Amino acid sequence: MQYFNFYIPVRIKFGVGLWEKIPEESYSLGAKKILIVTGKKHLKSTGILARLINIYNNYPIDVYIFDEVPPEPPYYVVDQGAEIVKTKNIDLIVGIGGGSALDVAKAIAVKVNLPGTIWDYVGENSNKITMKGIPTILAPTTAGTASEVTRVSVLINPETKEKLSIRHDFLYATLAIIDPYLTLSLPKENTAYSGLDAFIHSLESFLSINSNMVTEPLALTALRTIYKYLPRVYNNLERIDLREKVLYASTISGIAFTQTGLGGIHALAHPIGAYANIPHGLACAIITIPVLEYNLEILTKEKISALGRALGVYSLRSAKERILKKIAELFSVLNIRLGLHNYGIKWQDLPNIAKEAPKTGSYKTNPRTLTYEVVLEILKKAF
Ligand SMILES: [Fe+2]
Repeated sequence: MQYFNFYIPVRIKFGVGLWEKIPEESYSLGAKKILIVTGKKHLKSTGILARLINIYNNYPIDVYIFDEVPPEPPYYVVDQGAEIVKTKNIDLIVGIGGGSALDVAKAIAVKVNLPGTIWDYVGENSNKITMKGIPTILAPTTAGTASEVTRVSVLINPETKEKLSIRHDFLYATLAIIDPYLTLSLPKENTAYSGLDAFIHSLESFLSINSNMVTEPLALTALRTIYKYLPRVYNNLERIDLREKVLYASTISGIAFTQTGLGGIHALAHPIGAYANIPHGLACAIITIPVLEYNLEILTKEKISALGRALGVYSLRSAKERILKKIAELFSVLNIRLGLHNYGIKWQDLPNIAKEAPKTGSYKTNPRTLTYEVVLEILKKAF
């Protein structure tokens, strides 16, 4: 018998050209003063921001811009954004950008009604959030984090080198505008890193202790789609039809993992990201093979068979080895350089990274129990 609990209160609009409807959608939501939350460069250099502001001029809406979101955003950026919202009486947040911009946008929206700093609400303290925030429209420019459909916002504390998430139903966007056009200008390396993040979300959702009959087909379809199309996108960055496939897969993997949680790869990728300051998808990839080797040992034949088929492994004979090989091949095609030592991490950092892992939500949903010793061993293998 199966039990599951599924809740995702986001209206999702998916399709090429929908980003130009963001002003109209803002108006339909009753907005009078909006804050666009984005990164420093991308939206400006592509001309998307200028075009968007131009379209907003057709509506009785005041537009403010907050373009202070760096990659791997520190928590105080959220506090700064929330101050602007309060002083300007903003009534809708429009987040456009990669996972960092969207994570900050939704955290700002909820922080508006919370005392203290947003860092008071990370990890186990997310359950202290008792007030809904203001509405949000989120539009991703990467196909990876799926922040636009999840209840997660990941932030960094630079002083303590912690990278932790806020997880709460109030973080769900009001509306997700998911437009493959916005991902067209994503550079080659970032296309690979964010696509791998989506691939690993699918993998970890499928393996999570909370995986169920609703999320499993979504995770497997996403896994199969990304495995097939991410290398093609990587070699044909201008192909919007291929971008659409990976973005679709990222969306459904997000719908799956926001219900199931993730696992050991994300539990380690977060502290690794905080130490090495490398893109999240890359941090995930570096640790994937050793975590999966550990997890594969306890999986049922059904799980291994389904995972194998998604990656083109059609028989159970040496399926585990061949699954690992298929994933290693994907990393190789995408020119991923493995090895923690290549990214400034020192052997003596490994115990500290291992100690951080249990603070993440993902640690608890790994299919096989993790301990400090196990995690340290995995880190040594990934070194
Ligand atoms: Fe991720």
